[in-house]
Amino acid sequence: MKIGLINDTHNGTHNNGTIMGTQCLNWLDNVLSAGDLADIDVLLVIGDIIEDYTSLEEGQQLLGAVKDEIVAYLSLSKVLFSLGNHDVQGPMTVDQIVSALGIPSNYYYKDILGVRFVMLDPDYDENTNEHEYNGGSWGGHLPPVELAWLDETLKPSRAAVVCCHHLLAPLGMSGNKYFAGGNEVHSRVDNYADVQTILQKHKDEILYCIHGHTHWDKHEAYNGIWYIQIASLVDTWSPEKKRAKVIVL
Ligand SMILES: [Fe+2]
Repeated sequence: MKIGLINDTHNGTHNNGTIMGTQCLNWLDNVLSAGDLADIDVLLVIGDIIEDYTSLEEGQQLLGAVKDEIVAYLSLSKVLFSLGNHDVQGPMTVDQIVSALGIPSNYYYKDILGVRFVMLDPDYDENTNEHEYNGGSWGGHLPPVELAWLDETLKPSRAAVVCCHHLLAPLGMSGNKYFAGGNEVHSRVDNYADVQTILQKHKDEILYCIHGHTHWDKHEAYNGIWYIQIASLVDTWSPEKKRAKVIVL
């Protein structure tokens, strides 16, 4: 199995510091046309698909443009999108984002060649457990209902890849442009301890947990589970910019 990874595309009408949202579609086309992803079985796009936006129409246009660019090269049936914090930094409801992306729900799974790909949504308010809308924290939170769903989804004894924009473990952020110092707390879901309890129950089945958000490439183990962080497509701070990644199982 070949798994393609493109993350934090931040498609936008403006740039945000070193995050070059206006270059997203050009650089995405470069990556897709290079052919590295031509024979993949699945492409994972794990959040921050778009940069902050100011209207429903703008959000729909930005999400649709990324989807259309990818579909020009790959069947949509091979593409699994999930949401990140910037995707909710504008006036689209979670249902409108789900509809624009053409995904079954804001968290869902798909079984491909015997592997269960679990796509989580960490864009919930930590106090109310309501989905974030038109703003919210740059940190993540998984509400109790999603945690229960995750536990049930991992129960069948089969290989699984768990994807979440924010980290599901307290991994080190030393040297990271965004999350070093006092900002580590925003790199991960606030209730990662609850997530870890679930993941540890199913650790023998979990091949990888894969994340965006931190805009750098990292591959490390924590309590017996491998965690992969994927650099942003469009952040010029990240040395891994404008690259797709491929995992071969
Ligand atoms: Fe991002």
